[in-house]
Amino acid sequence: MTPDPHRARPRNGVGPQAALAPDSGVAAAAPGPVVDMGEFGAYAGAHRIAAVEGDGELVRVTWDDGATAAFHRLWLRDNCACADCRHPQTRERTVKLVDIAEPGRPEVVADGDGALTCTWADGHVSRFDPTWLRQRRPEADAAAQPTPRLWTAQRMADGLPSVDHQSVMHTDDGLCRWLDALSRDGAALITDGPSDLNEVVRVAERIGWPRETNFGRHFDVQSKPNPNNAAYTAIRLEPHVDLPNWQRSPDFQFLYCLENEAEGGESLLVDGFAVAGALAQEDPEAYETLCTLPIDFRFQDADNDIRFRAPVIGRDADGQVCEIRFNNWIRDAQPMAPETAERFYRGYRRFWELLRDPAYMIRFPLKPGCMMAFDNLRVLHGREEFFPNTGKRHLQGCYIDRDLVESRLRVLERG
Ligand code: OGA
Ligand code: ZN
Ligand code: ZN
Repeated sequence: MTPDPHRARPRNGVGPQAALAPDSGVAAAAPGPVVDMGEFGAYAGAHRIAAVEGDGELVRVTWDDGATAAFHRLWLRDNCACADCRHPQTRERTVKLVDIAEPGRPEVVADGDGALTCTWADGHVSRFDPTWLRQRRPEADAAAQPTPRLWTAQRMADGLPSVDHQSVMHTDDGLCRWLDALSRDGAALITDGPSDLNEVVRVAERIGWPRETNFGRHFDVQSKPNPNNAAYTAIRLEPHVDLPNWQRSPDFQFLYCLENEAEGGESLLVDGFAVAGALAQEDPEAYETLCTLPIDFRFQDADNDIRFRAPVIGRDADGQVCEIRFNNWIRDAQPMAPETAERFYRGYRRFWELLRDPAYMIRFPLKPGCMMAFDNLRVLHGREEFFPNTGKRHLQGCYIDRDLVESRLRVLERG
């Protein structure tokens, strides 16, 4: 008997497993998938397709618990997962709709396995796993990110979420817990690690690889002779984000403490999204100014002149705050009409006052062997002044892209 090319089979030895989000409407310990859809992600579930009908351009699907959804016929043809339409090894789409003049309206049936079978005008057959299809109902948002949990100082009164170094580095569960906290709270600690040079990079490599910048693959935060950056002095660093002078500021920053004997130098963190929300409530005009007025950011040293212009508070297409660019020392001397300056400085001052407000900002000593990680587009960081003649202070830092952090979490959550 020829094996059915549409039947579920593990690819590269990895088959979709049965752990699904509780709201997917699918029981957790369900049987395996019905149709191999060429996914690493889980889509095994209990519900089968009970009925299906063609309706003009649409295919209407009803599952056995009464849930329904309508799919456009072109979407179905485009998302056929058979070996001719998706590369069996790379799992990427190989079907090219541009080369199919008119797929026609398919003949549709809910087959004996509870899958949807579509037969197209040219005889091509597409089968769709019932759970895979259910996860892709037009009203579902498959790309939904973990919801951020905005915080105030009170919520972090007992300290940042933290996971010990051994668990992060040597267990998937520890890494998963730490990355989940980092994604949701925008900040998380690793504790009880070694004070080894470059450990910060080894942590980043547990996820992916660091993002290089003009400060290197990683950087040493120490009071240095001839500093090219405020962090390399001993002065207080007001809450800030790093590198807003880059079109793409680094997404996440890791700061690993190797030595912290000097007096002062306590770390500061504040949830910039929470503060932006407070500003919007308290002073909508100031908020609007910071959301809309483009500001020039600039870093210059002997080898670089890196500039970018963007508002202090960035909003996405839905009007939600999605990035903060606040760094007082790398804001450029920007030409500004006097009436614009009036508006800008009023809003900027109020935002800055709120960022410093102890209701929002937390302050704690970073101990040797501890690493703080934060979402550099959301959570502002800083430090108190320290006194190098009272002892050594040495942190190492690096940056990493959100794509890699989210990818590692998704892979860990595959189970
Ligand atoms: C930095 C920084 C904080 C610190 O290096 O970007 O803000 O505690 N450092 O020294
Ligand atoms: Zn196909
Ligand atoms: Zn910084």
